[in-house]
Parts: sequence; C-alpha cells; structure tokens
Amino acid sequence: MKAALEWQIACGADEAILDAPVDRTQVVEKPVAKPGAPAVVPDAPGVDAVAVAEQMATAAPDLEGLRATMEAFEHCELKRGARQLVFCDGVPGARVMIIGEAPGRDEDMAGKPFVGRAGQLLDLMFSHIGLSREAPDKEAALYITNVLPWRPPQNRDPKPDEIAMMLPFVKRHVELADPDLIVAMGNHACQALLGKRGITRLRGTWEEALGKPVLPMFHPAYLLRTNAAKREAWADLLSLQHRLRIGA
Ligand code: URA
Repeated sequence: MKAALEWQIACGADEAILDAPVDRTQVVEKPVAKPGAPAVVPDAPGVDAVAVAEQMATAAPDLEGLRATMEAFEHCELKRGARQLVFCDGVPGARVMIIGEAPGRDEDMAGKPFVGRAGQLLDLMFSHIGLSREAPDKEAALYITNVLPWRPPQNRDPKPDEIAMMLPFVKRHVELADPDLIVAMGNHACQALLGKRGITRLRGTWEEALGKPVLPMFHPAYLLRTNAAKREAWADLLSLQHRLRIGA
C-alpha cells in the first residue's frame, strides 16, 4: 500500500480527489448514453473536437447556457482530471473582462477563477484603479474567466490543441459577456486571443481581438515572483483606467 502511494507521488499526484479509495481492478467502465443523445466518443477517430466545440458554443443562447454547454463538452481530456469546471467570477456586463490562463489548485477546488495567491494580487491591483469583481455597479465591476476551464495536471502549461479546442467557447463567452475591454493575462491568454506570444514585448500595447480592445498584461503569478515587473503592471493599469475614462 505504501509502495503504491509512493509510486503515485513519484508520478506527480499531489492530492486525493475522492473521499474513499476506488479499487480500479473491480471497476467495469460502462459507456453511459443518455436517451436521444448522440454517441460522443472522445477519442473516436474522425471526431473534429474544434468543430464540435464551435457548434456547441455558437448554440449557447446566454452565459448560463454556455456554462451548461461547456459542462457537457466531453472532448477535452483535462475535464477528467479536474474536480470541476471553472467558468467565471465577477459581474456579467462589467466593462472589463479579464481572461487568464487556466485554473490552479485553489480555483479547481473553489470553482472560481483567480482565487489563490495570484488572484488575491489581481484583486489588489485592480482595486487601485477602482475595479472589483464584487462591485454592484457595472462601471466599477470586473468579469473574470480563463482560456481553459479545467485545471491542467500539476498546473502544467496548456497544450496548443487544448487551447484550440476551448477557444470557440472563449469567443462565445466574450460575445455574451460583451465587455468594452479585455485584459489578456500572460502569454497563454495572448496566444489564444491574439495568436502572439512574448508578453514582455506585448504588455501595455493595446491590440484588438474579437472586435474588442485587448490589453496584454503580466500575469499576477509572474508578478508574485518578479517584484521589478510591478512598475510596468502599474503603468498598464493606468492605461486601462485612461481608456475606460475616455470611453474605451
Ligand atoms: N491563473 C490563471 O491564469 N487563472 C486562474 O484562475 C488562476 C491562476
């Protein structure tokens, strides 16, 4: 038993997901088909996961519909390792939408984006320009999501095929939330939204994507490790505040 546990730790397991152990040797996996539902075989050859995502995302009529649609999307392997979908936090209709990378451990447990240490720094940063995910007033509110809604194992970087597969949902999310401005937090968000990497060069430079102005910023997890970059992050916050004041 101890050897089995040590082997799992060596493989990178860092927490228990279920309350009680499961004896996998006794589990018979049976495909569960809902009546009337098309048979979705995640790894079936010929299934174009991006096309399925596009079809499902386009059909979502509103934000709650989009959340339900993403819950039902079975083609992303990350879903199987995560506790739950992390969809959004903050105020739908806020002028500013923040798009991060992917949930970490804290977010996977809470079901909300940016609730760990990086999230606390994010809240502090935006509070200095009068914006908050809890503001009742949409002018002062934030709406927050991520490119990937499921935690990658051991917080590894998102893979290009995972980003490509989930991008149709991000696009629909932006359409439905309809912010005035988007903040792309870090390299992976820039890659997904702008098709560009190199956050040190991109940050602070207004770009356009999905019909919205996009401001690339350093990810708060990077700022936690790199005090010197906070100066640039402050300049970017002031640029965002100015853009909001002049009407975006
Ligand atoms: N980092 C992200 O990019 N998103 C989160 O939700 C948490 C950490």
